[in-house]
Amino acid sequence: MGSTFTYKHPKRLMMTSALPYANGQIHIGHIAGAYLPGDIRARFERMAGSEIVWVCGSDEHGAAITLRAKKDGVTPREIVDRYHIEMQQAFQGLDMSFDHYSRTSSDRHHKVAQAFFMKLLDQGSFEVKTEAQFYDPEANQFLADRYITGTCPKCESPGAFGDQCEKCGSTLSPTELIEPKSTLSGATPILKDTTLWYLPMGRHENWLKPYIESGELDGHTHHASDAWKAHVTGQCRSWIESGLQSRAMTRDLDWGVPVPVEGAEGKVLYVWLDAPIGYITATMEWAEKNGAQWEDWWQSPETELIHFIGKDNIVFHCLIFPILLKEHGDYILPSNVPANAFMNLEGDKISTSRNWAVWVNEFLEEFPGKSDELRYVLTSIMPEQKDSEFTWADYRERVNNELADVLGNFVNRVLVLTKKYYDSSVPAVEVSDFTSGDLEVVNQLESAPQKIADCIRKNRYRDALQEAMSIARLGNKYMTEQEPWKVQKTDPDRTRIILNLCIQVTANCAVLLEPFLPKTASKIQRAFGIESASWDSAKPIMVPAETKLGELPILFEKIEESTVQAQVEKLESAKAQATGARSDCQPLKEIMTFEDFQKLDLRVGEVVACERVPKADKLLQLTIRTGLDERTVLSGIAEHFSPEEVVGRRVTLLANLAPRKIRGIESQGMVLMAETAEGELRFVTPEEGTNAGDVIR
Ligand code: 2FM
Ligand code: ZN
Repeated sequence: MGSTFTYKHPKRLMMTSALPYANGQIHIGHIAGAYLPGDIRARFERMAGSEIVWVCGSDEHGAAITLRAKKDGVTPREIVDRYHIEMQQAFQGLDMSFDHYSRTSSDRHHKVAQAFFMKLLDQGSFEVKTEAQFYDPEANQFLADRYITGTCPKCESPGAFGDQCEKCGSTLSPTELIEPKSTLSGATPILKDTTLWYLPMGRHENWLKPYIESGELDGHTHHASDAWKAHVTGQCRSWIESGLQSRAMTRDLDWGVPVPVEGAEGKVLYVWLDAPIGYITATMEWAEKNGAQWEDWWQSPETELIHFIGKDNIVFHCLIFPILLKEHGDYILPSNVPANAFMNLEGDKISTSRNWAVWVNEFLEEFPGKSDELRYVLTSIMPEQKDSEFTWADYRERVNNELADVLGNFVNRVLVLTKKYYDSSVPAVEVSDFTSGDLEVVNQLESAPQKIADCIRKNRYRDALQEAMSIARLGNKYMTEQEPWKVQKTDPDRTRIILNLCIQVTANCAVLLEPFLPKTASKIQRAFGIESASWDSAKPIMVPAETKLGELPILFEKIEESTVQAQVEKLESAKAQATGARSDCQPLKEIMTFEDFQKLDLRVGEVVACERVPKADKLLQLTIRTGLDERTVLSGIAEHFSPEEVVGRRVTLLANLAPRKIRGIESQGMVLMAETAEGELRFVTPEEGTNAGDVIR
């Protein structure tokens, strides 16, 4: 207590979070991956007194945007303007405290990215190659990245894009895809010559290896004090080991930062030379607004650069961007890239196209004022080392059992009892009267800020939150065991100590939980008269005697089972809609084997004659040519078709159904019909060009 110890980080911290593509909504997977860890870190560092800038912005270029525009029948500009706003609403709703949020379609950014490209071009950092690239002969356009899909050469999943397989996360080149197809026309692309600028990554292998493994660079250890995550280093290592190839840094596309070279019309910078430069542009904008020098943040050895990203951007931020920064020469390199893995949802991968996601803006609308609850759960299950899973049942349990029952309940009991016994005025105590049990609580309060700080600086946010919550648990347990409501009757002096200590615990929670639960923390801080919640304000005795405590409404409402059940149902029906599933559909029958199927003799039949069956309203008698014979088949379709409508048709015939006598006539097979939702019958007619007797299999 009372030492000159400080939590301030020894260096400036330049932090970035991946610029999300402005082509869709933000979902919980995005938040848990690249934004929430950045926000917790940023809030903590500000409280610790560190010099920090955290930037983000919308990535408004690339095939992700132009394809979306095409699908919606609008211009790329309309798409990015819309999502730039919607994404910011989502971030604001969850209290992402970016120092600046930018966008890459600004003139400023175009100039910054072009200047960066030109410096590298002039000094010979690129290879210019004229090479055959995929071209859609029907749409008359080169096929960049997402304009082309095929089977992934690494994991063999279908639907991989020309630049990346979203299943296994591999970075790909379009020509590596198996059975490539244009997403514009479905055509098989042809190869056509075009000029592209390549980054020869192989030139950089020697310094990249030690840089990735231990942060060694130009004889200095460049990494932050904390180690890189094993899965991040592992992915980089396997990339380097499989051989660093040259990668194209430009694309033939009409939307993006134009390649600033004469004769390069219709060519733009690829995301690798565009989005991360957006971090720099964002910092320039921030610096201008705040009277700061952006160079201090990007070009000074006194600054550490940290990128928060999802695992799909690891190679990009750990190899490609560092190469670009080093080639340029004026910049520092990232000291850590604490990438997170993916968050799954209710047993399945989050998917925009299948609408299998919890969308942040929808959550905020349906659960107003509950952003801290979502932040809490997403931090608790953050996919720090491997993929994790969000379920609504777990969401409910954590909110009810942890936030409501532990934190909310404790804070509430503290306030209620302080009001009841002391008219909300903090009772005075002497530390010399503390029992060993009380001192145990004091010790925990003493060590908590450092423990939490250590976890946060090691990018272990789950552990950090657990440490912070353990203070609330401690308080809750202490109060339950001490039973001040009983002690008050016999020993009011002792009660003062118990309650004073509970008040101190609550005040510590209000500070230590702020990076995680900013809204809740500020409510408690206000009620406890805490004005400046710096990290070192958290200490065993925080709230002076006689402080008048305020009032607080219930901090966390419990969630009903029906509420989360409704969310799961909403997910299912949204997916059904996105995938075209029908609610009125018959359930799937029992699975059968291929051998079972092979027993069916299905073939094309041709109806050569048809008449009504006397005294049977529903039956028609068909004479069908089967290739083997001409046979009689009875069909219950008389209420839907007249004999004239049936004669001459080709039908799908089940030819080996056991014969059956109906009204004295033997039926030798069955004509297959489709039944519509309205109960109408339709023939299953084999396509033009088939003939009686053709097998159906
Ligand atoms: O993968 C993506 O989402 C891209 N918009 C790039 C993000 S990282 C970047 F900002 F450098
Ligand atoms: Zn793959």
